[in-house]
Amino acid sequence: MKVFQNVEDLGDLKLALEEAAAVKKDRFQYQALGRNKTALLIFFNNSLRTRLSTQKAAMNLGMNVIVLDVNQGAWKLETERGVIMDGDKSEHLLEAIPVMGCYCDVIGVRSFATFENRKDDYEEKILNQFIKYSGRPVFFMESATVHPLQAFADLITIEEYKRTQRPKVVLSWAPHPKALPQAVPNSFAQWMNAADVDFVVTHPEGYELDPKFVGNARVEYDQMKAFEGADFIYAKNWSCPGVTRPEDYGKVLSKDMGWTVDAAHMAVTNNAYFMHCLPVRRNMIVTDDVIESPQSLVIPEAANREISATVVLKRMLETL
Ligand code: CP
Repeated sequence: MKVFQNVEDLGDLKLALEEAAAVKKDRFQYQALGRNKTALLIFFNNSLRTRLSTQKAAMNLGMNVIVLDVNQGAWKLETERGVIMDGDKSEHLLEAIPVMGCYCDVIGVRSFATFENRKDDYEEKILNQFIKYSGRPVFFMESATVHPLQAFADLITIEEYKRTQRPKVVLSWAPHPKALPQAVPNSFAQWMNAADVDFVVTHPEGYELDPKFVGNARVEYDQMKAFEGADFIYAKNWSCPGVTRPEDYGKVLSKDMGWTVDAAHMAVTNNAYFMHCLPVRRNMIVTDDVIESPQSLVIPEAANREISATVVLKRMLETL
């Protein structure tokens, strides 16, 4: 595997899930695969889970790991071609990327949406430059539009906890004080559409996800109706994707606290499990009692980030 960005990059999803289960049983079984190989993890943005779980995954596979926080200690990077670099940015990404490629065998990159330009964000301008110029396999550790390591971990978790062959899974928008990217809901929708689940998306009007991710999923604007009979509730905030009104891209259109997932919402479900990628704003996205309930899967979900990253790095090492 040369790039990990979309669900299709894993090939047969059933096989990938079986591989994840086998890795989870013995996560050190491929130690020889990563011997004398180096993973470079580049962070343009903050992280707790991705940083730790991906380092742990690389160590599971016997790899060496280098972590670079671009905004803390590295030169400030220019990303646009043609710019006269007379400002505070000392190095261009077009030199920095191939240099980074010299020191490693695989590269993971985290870079959030800028919200400045929908077209640039949705064309994955930064990540595509890493794919083009690094000369190394590149895996997305959350980009402007996708978070595939999270979605893979989410699917592994649903597979582990499902009580019926084809569970009802609901992705629900929830309020947040700040504008957040659409990467998590985009990937979650993409991966649920590829999985054997009954998938429903619910959000206020104006928050429609990009068609290339939401596909043919059922969209229900009545949150309570969407929750009825659900087996899994996946809560997440996202800012306006700008699908119907491009001028609203990245804006917070609603802070309606009626969308916060609370006990009344969970009561209409089929005793659903609660999921969220974390970090989560308590009593904005979800109430204390729901996230602390026995139905909350937020910790097992985070734990599975190590498993999804181990499978992805293993696949990359196998094709070096
Ligand atoms: N879920 C997730 O990606 O968490 P971090 O932002 O802490 O890495």
